Amino acid sequence: MLNIWDANWGLELGLCPCDLHFVEMIADRNIANSVIYHFGSGGHHLVGVDCMKAGKGNVVISITAAPQEEKEYEKLIIDQPQLAHHYICYFSDIYTFEGRLMPVFDVTSVFHLCEFRSDQQDSYAGHTDWEVLRRLCKQTRNGGLVVFYNGSDGWKKSEPLVAKAVAEGLIEADSMFKTLPIYRRTAKAIG
Ligand SMILES: C[S@@+](CC[C@H](N)C(=O)[O-])C[C@H]1O[C@@H](n2cnc3c(N)ncnc32)[C@H](O)[C@@H]1O
Repeated sequence: MLNIWDANWGLELGLCPCDLHFVEMIADRNIANSVIYHFGSGGHHLVGVDCMKAGKGNVVISITAAPQEEKEYEKLIIDQPQLAHHYICYFSDIYTFEGRLMPVFDVTSVFHLCEFRSDQQDSYAGHTDWEVLRRLCKQTRNGGLVVFYNGSDGWKKSEPLVAKAVAEGLIEADSMFKTLPIYRRTAKAIG
């Protein structure tokens, strides 16, 4: 059985402001006409909905492992079909991420790295957290942004993986925006 996340996460800005900070960062940098990959849509779908409202020509692909959150996405695009021009939320487990099924990303959020890997994913050869990070970096264009969240439950475990990605030359530190450590994809090829 796929490892699902059996919940429907509402916007809890006191607890988890990362999605708000992400859309603020996109506006602050005036990011436009870009492909944005977002790990963890939430049932609120803030990142996708804001992308449409901002009108900057960005598109968002987000992943959810919660059937309830995917249902919320279906309701959103049934009620507002114009949203579907800007935003797709797909249901899967990030630990099965396969870049050949995806476009190249300009901006990639990795907010929930190291939060959701369990033994259950071994039964279908789920990737490790390092492998997820490596694959998401590989899918991000040279010079694109790879964005983390330092308030995540998985951040302590993620830090050594981020350091490893830097040491291997996959990404380099760019800046900090509120709770979001921002890295830049290098030109190094990832096999
Ligand atoms: C705590 S919620 C945070 C949602 C949103 N990023 C926010 O901060 O409001 C965690 C998100 O990660 C997603 N998630 C959990 N496990 C996942 C997995 N294995 N693969 C992909 N997404 C997963 C959930 O569906 C949910 O959208």
